[in-house]
Amino acid sequence: MPEPADRAPTQLSDSEVDLTKPSAARMYDWYLGGTSNWAVDRLFGKKAEETWPQVKATALHNRQFLRRVVQAALAAGIRQFLDLGTGVPTVGNIHDVIREHHLDPDDEARVLYVDYEPVAAAHGRRVLADDDVTDWGGLAQRDMRDPAAVFGDSERIRLLRMNQPVCVLFIAVLHFVGDGDHPMRLLDEYRRRVVPGSWIAISHASNDAAPPEGAANIQKVVDSYQKTSNPMWLRDRAAITSWLDVEGWELLKPGVVHPPDWRPKPGTKLNAKQEDARPYMWSGVASKN
Ligand SMILES: C[S@@+](CC[C@H](N)C(=O)[O-])C[C@H]1O[C@@H](n2cnc3c(N)ncnc32)[C@H](O)[C@@H]1O
Repeated sequence: MPEPADRAPTQLSDSEVDLTKPSAARMYDWYLGGTSNWAVDRLFGKKAEETWPQVKATALHNRQFLRRVVQAALAAGIRQFLDLGTGVPTVGNIHDVIREHHLDPDDEARVLYVDYEPVAAAHGRRVLADDDVTDWGGLAQRDMRDPAAVFGDSERIRLLRMNQPVCVLFIAVLHFVGDGDHPMRLLDEYRRRVVPGSWIAISHASNDAAPPEGAANIQKVVDSYQKTSNPMWLRDRAAITSWLDVEGWELLKPGVVHPPDWRPKPGTKLNAKQEDARPYMWSGVASKN
């Protein structure tokens, strides 16, 4: 099969993208079957898949978790979404899930996507324009470790009303935040800026519930991410629980579980490949009292 063109289909010039190092956003796009990636990303992604064959199925589980959280938040009456570490937009973006929900015309939902990676940001803006959702959807190219910059961004100010609940999504992004950047403190910064009724959703790579061989394999991949633009860390269930189950917040049912186990669609059955990929992330959602 021919390789996709060695260009991501964006308006970006090479000088705007670091082509010497793979990026988490573009590798994740490759894991999900997208085309917004460069040779350096595909090479690294293929090596990751050889080392840890569950990588693609794990990414898909994660994407499905995101979808179900947005559906649950909409069902709970939340109408604003702040998606931190959006990635290169692919199918099942938050605005797609909102559209599928068929809200009444006067019942408006809004979404702000945040990513600091130039390809993810350029694609995000283009997808929002192509999908004709720029009235209620926007993208801020920001480092989410700087909440003041995120909340001060003109797109945030245009789109999100901070006196109304927001669903803040940290989906597969906190494993790119090292302990030196104090994830708990960072989460507190987001928690304090949202009103009661808001949600925080997290999914995070892990290996504490994985079989020994798989646990070693994902660890090797994580170690190799040190050479990319996005060093990565694994954390265990206790750590993720401690980030979500905090005073003033309620950890929503079913608690901190693997992504396919968070409120699966009734009757969902995992095939062998999906089952194999179950234990490599933890996920959960908490609501502000
Ligand atoms: C694995 S992708 C996850 C994409 C999406 N959240 C999902 O789960 O489908 C992680 C994304 O987080 C972004 N990212 C990592 N650290 C970030 C930071 N400090 N600020 C903003 N984006 C970040 C990367 O550029 C990448 O696009």
